[in-house]
Amino acid sequence: MVLYKSTRGVSPSVSFQQALLSGYAPDGGLYLPETLPSFSREELRAWAKLSAQELLQAMLPHFVSSDEITAEELQSVLDGCYSKFDDPDDLIPLKTVGSVKVAEMWHGPTGSFKDLALSVVGRLVDYFLEKSGRKANIIVRTSGDTGSAAIHSVLGSKHINIVVWYPRGCVSLVQELQMTTVDAPNVKVFSVEGTTDEADVPLRKISADKEFVSKYNLACFNSVNVSRILLQAVHFTYLYLKICPTVDRYVTFCVPTGGLGNITGCVVARTMGIPLQIVSTVNENDIVDRTFRLNDFSLSDSVVHTPSSAMDIQIPYNIERIFYYLTSQKSQIVRDVMESFERDGRCKLPEAITKTNTYLQTARVDTEELFSAMKQVWQENNYAICPHTAVAMNAGLRLAAQNPEEEIVVIATATPAKFPQVMERGGVPVPRVEQVECLFGLPEHKELVEKGEDWEKRMRDAVASFNQ
Ligand SMILES: Cc1ncc(COP(=O)(O)O)c(C=O)c1O
Repeated sequence: MVLYKSTRGVSPSVSFQQALLSGYAPDGGLYLPETLPSFSREELRAWAKLSAQELLQAMLPHFVSSDEITAEELQSVLDGCYSKFDDPDDLIPLKTVGSVKVAEMWHGPTGSFKDLALSVVGRLVDYFLEKSGRKANIIVRTSGDTGSAAIHSVLGSKHINIVVWYPRGCVSLVQELQMTTVDAPNVKVFSVEGTTDEADVPLRKISADKEFVSKYNLACFNSVNVSRILLQAVHFTYLYLKICPTVDRYVTFCVPTGGLGNITGCVVARTMGIPLQIVSTVNENDIVDRTFRLNDFSLSDSVVHTPSSAMDIQIPYNIERIFYYLTSQKSQIVRDVMESFERDGRCKLPEAITKTNTYLQTARVDTEELFSAMKQVWQENNYAICPHTAVAMNAGLRLAAQNPEEEIVVIATATPAKFPQVMERGGVPVPRVEQVECLFGLPEHKELVEKGEDWEKRMRDAVASFNQ
C-alpha cells in the first residue's frame, strides 16, 4: 500500500485517502508519498502518445494503491474529468512567443491553472466519501483563484460542502463574480471586510479545533493537500512529453510562484525522472528567491501588494516539501529548519539543502519589469498575458537572451481576461472571453461579514448550517 508521511517525520504515516481528506500533518509538516516512483526514459517515451486523462490513469496507481481504488474505479472517477475544459484534447495549448514557448495551463472552467488539479481532486474526494458514507466540509480562504476553482470542482457533489471566505477588495471583480454568481446548495460565499491576514484568523482558529475538524470532517483544497501536488506533477509530465516526446533533452519551465504549490509539482516530476530544469519566479515578495539564491530564508517585514496579487505571500508553505526532496527525504533536517524558521522568522540553510540543488533556480521580477514583459509580448507578438504570467515571462526572456540554446517554457497560470484593470495599466487590451463576459449581470449570492462581528462564529455557523 502507498503510504504518506509528513515532511517533518514525526506523525504516523497515513493512507492516500487519509492524506487526501486532511490538511497539515499533526506534527505541522506536509504529507508526501513515502516513496516516489522513478521512471526510465523508455517508460516516459511510451507515455508520450497518451492523452492527459490516459496519463493520469497510468501514473496515479503509483500514488494510490489498488487496495484503495482499483484501476476500473479510477477510470470511472477520471472519466470526463476535463470535460469542462476549452479543449479536452488539447489541455495545455502551447504557443511560441518570441524566443520562448508559453504553456497555457489555464483553459479550465475558471480560467486558472488550479482547475487542472482541482477537477480531479473533487472527484477523488467524492469517490472516497461515497464509499465511506461520509460527508466532508471545506473552508477556503482565498484572495485569488482558489475559491472559484474549488467551487467548480465540487458543483453537483452530494458529499462535499464548501465555505469560501474572501477579503473584500483584495480579489479582482471578475474573480469575485466567478465565486458569487454560483447558486448551489453546497456552496456558501462570504465577502469579508478585512485584509488577507485578518481573513485568515478565524480559519486558523477553527483548523486548530480538533473536535470541530473531526465532527465536520474538514478537508482542505489548497496546495497543502498533497493530491494537488501529485496531480500537478502528472500535468507537468504531460506537458514535458508534449514538448519533447523523444525524452532526450532538458526543458526549462519558468513558473510564476506564490505558495510554491505548482512548482512543487515540477519538483516531484523531476524527482521521478522527468528531465526538467525549473525556474521559480517571484515578485517583490521574494522570500523564495532570497532563500535559494542567497541562503536568506527569512520573513520580510510585510506583504508588498503587487499587480500579480496571487503571488503576494510572505510564507511559501510548500517550501518544506522542496527541502524534503533536496535533502533526499531527510525529515530531521527539514524539521530543524522549519522549526527554527517558525521560532525566529529566519534560518540559515544547511549544506544538505544548498549543495544538493541542481535543478531549481529562482528569479525576482519587480512591478516595472512585469509591465515591461507584458507590453513587450503584446507589442512584438500581439499576445496578452496575465500579470502572474508576466513575472515568469520577464525571467524567461532574460534567460533566453543569455542561453539561446536552452528550451524555455513560460507557464501561463491564468487568463488575462480576469485582470482587466492591470491589463489596462499595462496598456494591453483585455481579451474577450465568453466565460468572463457572461458573469456580468448575473445575480450574486454572497453573505457580507463586517468588522466588529464575531467572524469565527460566522464561519462555524456556515459549516454547521450545511449539516443540520
Ligand atoms: C494566477 C496565479 N499564478 C500563480 C500562482 C502561484 O501559485 P503557487 O501558489 O502554487 O505558487 C497563483 C496562486 O494562487 C495564481 O492564482
